[in-house]
Amino acid sequence: MSSHGSVIPMRSTPCGPLSGVAEVPGDKSISHRSLILGALAVGETRISGLLEGQDVLDTAAAMRAFGAEVVDHGGGNWSVHGVGVGGFAEPDQVIDCGNSGTGVRLIMGAMATSPIVATFTGDASLNKRPMARVTDPLALFGARAVGRSGGRLPMTIVGAADPVPVRYEVPVPSAQVKSAVLLAGLNAPGRTVVIEREATRDHTERMLAGFGAEIAVEETGEGRVITLTGQPELKPQVIAVPRDPSSAAFPVCAALIVPGSDVLVPGIGLNPTRAGLFTTLREMGADLTYENQREEGGEPVADLRARYSPDMEGIEVPPERAASMIDEYPILSVVAANARGRTMMRGVKELRVKESDRIDAMATGLRANGVEVEEGEDWWAVTGRGAGGVPGGAVCASHLDHRIAMSFLVLGMAAKAPVSVDDGGPIATSFPIFEGLMGGLGARIERAEA
Ligand code: S3P
Repeated sequence: MSSHGSVIPMRSTPCGPLSGVAEVPGDKSISHRSLILGALAVGETRISGLLEGQDVLDTAAAMRAFGAEVVDHGGGNWSVHGVGVGGFAEPDQVIDCGNSGTGVRLIMGAMATSPIVATFTGDASLNKRPMARVTDPLALFGARAVGRSGGRLPMTIVGAADPVPVRYEVPVPSAQVKSAVLLAGLNAPGRTVVIEREATRDHTERMLAGFGAEIAVEETGEGRVITLTGQPELKPQVIAVPRDPSSAAFPVCAALIVPGSDVLVPGIGLNPTRAGLFTTLREMGADLTYENQREEGGEPVADLRARYSPDMEGIEVPPERAASMIDEYPILSVVAANARGRTMMRGVKELRVKESDRIDAMATGLRANGVEVEEGEDWWAVTGRGAGGVPGGAVCASHLDHRIAMSFLVLGMAAKAPVSVDDGGPIATSFPIFEGLMGGLGARIERAEA
């Protein structure tokens, strides 16, 4: 059970063609950042297309707890009256970030260089996840963290009263760690430098520049070097959140594997640091096209058109592409199960510390549904059964992980027998309209009583 919802077992029955237009919700990463940066600006930031998933609602509640005025105007339109960099108030309650690693890690960074104390917690999934990757660099600014063993939540952060700027090379490919350091650097005097060897999603850098911070990004031999000048006055923005490529992945991949399908997924953010899945699918032979390519709010956007692709072949996914599709490996493995030959995915150790151990969760469920999966610590491989060849028929554990639940429900759409998940409740964290949207295209997803 999630910290907010009840257990909702679900079953997906093989279905006929999926067709129509799939309007997926706003981008989760950009939604969190819009609220947090809005809270750190002086004046009113207006946001349209905000993802109203539980993860983002938890971040909205947290920003209120730190003193910002966050108002829901309905229909994805929100406003945030920010308190300015360094203006966070000390919350009088524990901050519950629910299921969201992005929420808790970015907010810890944002408050760590203010002279306040905050205690963070989350659901059973989040409270298992490693936080030292964030609290280690925050300690360099002068913040202190006291948490459970292994650097787990619940955890209290004592913000630095006299923060110093830092130079930090991120040891794991993580946009959350990078962003936490940059957000902490906002309230440190002087220049904070973050170096990442492998490029990860760059929404924080783009948005900080949009909010008027002085930030420079240099590609060098040692990686991307990001330099932020601290203590800017952030100017409120009008933000139109693009639709989430990580959510688009589900109707796109479903259309590729369900016979006769033809689905249009409009207005999808195609920032190169996020679009690795779509490149991979095209390399596998997917009939996936980008229509009406354009730029919206500083992000490249296109309408994706996906048609049934019975001749997809397994490939070696280049490890250097991993960061740009890190959340999409679960659904890629479902497509791989419906392709011919072996799909090899290397350099993906980070999958083991997401909302669940995603290699283990997918491997277990795929095997139960008749698909061969091999795995090592930082790689896994799926041997495809060809179009429509997955037997299905099993109940899979979603491990409080929205992307695992949605991936198995998509598996069931193209299998020989229905596929169930023990709990589809977590889907509401990132894609609350998933069932209705997929049902509207022709999918058959049913809820069962717990
Ligand atoms: C995110 C970064 C990624 C990703 C997560 C969202 C972000 O996590 O998996 O869903 O918005 O910064 P890591 O930073 O742990 O790679």
